[in-house]
Amino acid sequence: MRTNNNLVNEAWQALENSIIYYDGQPIGTVAAHDPEMDALNYDQCFVRDFVSSALAFLMKGKVEIVRNFLIKSLALQSHEKQMDCFKPGPGLMPASFKVESSNNEQQLIADFGEQAIARVTPVDSSLWWIILLRAYVKATGDKAIAQQTEFQQGIKLILDLCLAHRFEMFPTMLVPDGAFMIDRRLGVYGHPLEIQVLFYGALRAARELLLPENNGEQYLHDVDRRLGALGYHVREYYWLDLQRLNEIYRYKGEEFGKEVANKFNIYAESIPAWLTEWLPENGGYLAGNLGPGLMDFRFFGLGNLMAILVSLASEQESQKIMDLIEQRWHDLIGHMPMKICFPAVEGLEWRIITGSDPKNIPWSYHNGGNWPVLLWMLAAAAQKTGRIELAQKAIEIAQNRLSEDQWPEYYDGKNGRLIGKEARKYQTWTIAGLLVAQELIANPAHLELISFEENTELMTCLI
Ligand code: GLC
Repeated sequence: MRTNNNLVNEAWQALENSIIYYDGQPIGTVAAHDPEMDALNYDQCFVRDFVSSALAFLMKGKVEIVRNFLIKSLALQSHEKQMDCFKPGPGLMPASFKVESSNNEQQLIADFGEQAIARVTPVDSSLWWIILLRAYVKATGDKAIAQQTEFQQGIKLILDLCLAHRFEMFPTMLVPDGAFMIDRRLGVYGHPLEIQVLFYGALRAARELLLPENNGEQYLHDVDRRLGALGYHVREYYWLDLQRLNEIYRYKGEEFGKEVANKFNIYAESIPAWLTEWLPENGGYLAGNLGPGLMDFRFFGLGNLMAILVSLASEQESQKIMDLIEQRWHDLIGHMPMKICFPAVEGLEWRIITGSDPKNIPWSYHNGGNWPVLLWMLAAAAQKTGRIELAQKAIEIAQNRLSEDQWPEYYDGKNGRLIGKEARKYQTWTIAGLLVAQELIANPAHLELISFEENTELMTCLI
């Protein structure tokens, strides 16, 4: 039987092996280091994936790599038009980047989705980048980095992109399918929870990092207004528990005017059969998506856990989300923490929603697979809500398997029993996820890197 020390050493070794160097400096980590599979773009540093590595490094005091990453990725922010891809706003952060060498010279090449499978836009990268910058400042106390002109400018460019006026009536952010961790078609376009939560977190982080100079005051004002409206909208309208389900079940349709109960014209018919059985008496969660005539009732792991961390979910809602996880443990955690979304879409729905995607068959990959990277978010959310025993239980499950299974990217099956059909081994955020989860439990003070306090002032500063 291996000791926990051995496991931690092995994980650290694997994390170190994943480091990418540029000009002799560590600047990121590859997505996976699987010697047995075609690398595709898994040999690149993904912004979203690196956040997990970065937290592990920050918690260990290895701050240099995170600093280098923040500087280098910021330098990649603005880019030229490539091939047939329309040039996005300059605030967009790449999905990933790699180091290319020719004639003894190294160059960083970014991918904003113009190379990625299905050419998906990485909306979450810019949001994660600001959240990570704040974590770095918290961990190091180095406020000066964020106060540099380039960083202030970078934050403002991201805000320009996020806060631009659009053809849009909601304070939530409208995005195409596959704009985040789920970077394939899965019916997560429109106003998916995952993006709204990261958006909220990024705005909270920007609020702490922006200086009032150089028009910063105006940005801060806009950020506050948006936070108020976004927070209210998500808490109020995405929330689902038995009481809300009863309300939706008895909703009237076709209501016109200001003071109506069914603002988004959701039909009771659209409540999926599984939900009425599945929702426990005293648990709840934020729904996956909300739009005109649409409520996606699926449970999404990252969105709900991060909602607790960024305090988009109220304290009471956060407790109820943890209650749900506890009571639906077998479905949401099972043999590997934890489900990326629940339940899977199947049959005709799978054909229509995924475009018959063979990688996203029911209970595999994004479509109801179990992703060990979510372990750190679960541990952090458990820590924040005082439900440590849930974190400990989940960590135990993960550490019993991950090393033996060679750190897979994801697991398949209703309860995560099988190693993912096409999962990479030595997936970096799987490795970092376990390390961060363990660190969080060993040293609860680390929670502040990724957590935001409840701010009631924001919830009341509606327009
Ligand atoms: C897959 C995942 C995405 C991840 C990338 C690199 O494309 O869907 O979330 O960032 O692999 O690990």
